[in-house]
Amino acid sequence: MQKHYFIKTYGCQMNVHESEKLAGMLRSLGYTETENMENADVIVFNTCCIRDAAEQKVLGNIGAVKKLKKLNPDLIIAVCGCMSQENGRAELFKQKYPHVSIVIGTHNLHKFKDYLIQYQQTKKKVFEIWQSEKDICEDVDMYRTSNNNAWVNIMYGCNNFCTYCIVPYVRGRERSRAMADIITEVKQLIAEGYKYITLLGQNVNSYGNDFKDGTNFAQLLTELAHLDGDFRIKFMTSHPKDLTTEVINAIATEPKLSKVIHLPVQSGSNKILKLMNRNYTVEHYKSLIKQIKDTVPNYFISTDIIVGFPHETEKDFMDTYNLVQEVNYGGVFGFMYSPRTGTIAEQMENQVPQDIKNARVNKLLSLSKEIIKEQNKQLVGKTLEALVETEDDNYYYATLDCGKNVIIDKTINLTLPTFKNVKIKAISGNKLIAEFI
Ligand code: 5AD
Ligand code: SF4
Repeated sequence: MQKHYFIKTYGCQMNVHESEKLAGMLRSLGYTETENMENADVIVFNTCCIRDAAEQKVLGNIGAVKKLKKLNPDLIIAVCGCMSQENGRAELFKQKYPHVSIVIGTHNLHKFKDYLIQYQQTKKKVFEIWQSEKDICEDVDMYRTSNNNAWVNIMYGCNNFCTYCIVPYVRGRERSRAMADIITEVKQLIAEGYKYITLLGQNVNSYGNDFKDGTNFAQLLTELAHLDGDFRIKFMTSHPKDLTTEVINAIATEPKLSKVIHLPVQSGSNKILKLMNRNYTVEHYKSLIKQIKDTVPNYFISTDIIVGFPHETEKDFMDTYNLVQEVNYGGVFGFMYSPRTGTIAEQMENQVPQDIKNARVNKLLSLSKEIIKEQNKQLVGKTLEALVETEDDNYYYATLDCGKNVIIDKTINLTLPTFKNVKIKAISGNKLIAEFI
């Protein structure tokens, strides 16, 4: 009888891609995907611990599948990802969630298949957390799930230790993948027809630093942008302290590099940036934005912001608010600071009350909404490249470089997916209406 898997993914694109690896391993064992948890023989929770809200969601969802295990004692429930790697969490799952059979961390995800087989053969629970990272494992099955976009890891881990952030504790130190391995993977993906290749790393700008031979991110981007084929390269996430003029120049001049730059500022106050250990100033950040705006055609800049970091006053927050207005971001991911166990900021005095955090994040997000509305209006009349992805009888459906959706009258015949220049004619809700030129 056909066996089924169900994977629930929390958190960032790194996790989304790692779930593709989990799916690849499960499929190599003969499992197929089910969209219905109740039908699954294996349920995997690929977890996130970046904020408390994410963890509470994970814990609630893992608790809720207890009843499925009761109905089907053969059901295998596995937990992996950042939360399992967190200090003391595996123990918590062992004690409080006896229906969970496998718990693994971030450093041994590539061995999930072995652990699953081991459990099936022995029926002994597997709790395996490696305390530190090992060499990068290149040989992992993968089942890609994001349509025309393919995720490609270029590096793992983070060395920055921003004082609020748990990532360095659960993802280990920075390790870059060999450039030759990345290029081989990207070439293969282009040959398979993927149109967007998104390079992933916690801090892509420090790609190659660990090789100590001068290899850097600008070099990688340029090599990839010169490959043959009809594709675009995207990447995330950049750190302002490491974003170089060389990288900005590559983005500005290479036609196959996406013009989307996600550049988390976190705060518009130098006092808070210092407390966050971000290692740049607002002035430096603004100079990067100026360089981008001056040189990159059709740039799209987005950011992450944390409000309510310890010691943040109304004045500090307003500095952030004014920066958002000044930069005129195409997108703002605003978060309320969430204390993480073991981080430096958790121990700081002057924690900001929840109601103030709430008010600040709402104020910021409504400003961002207004900016985006205005930016959409200004797109009308512009000609931009779009990836035309799907169609029905009357329309083509496309996405711009920045991810905005576009609807186009079907006046020509196209073989999809394909890049085409379109002229934006109007806006309807948050959809853009365009025509081919
Ligand atoms: N609390 C709130 N937001 C956080 N982020 C990281 N750690 C925390 C935390 N403890 C945000 C940062 C980061 C994004 C991925 O998540 O803005 O850029
Ligand atoms: Fe966390 Fe800072 Fe590393 Fe980003 S750069 S993952 S925010 S420690």
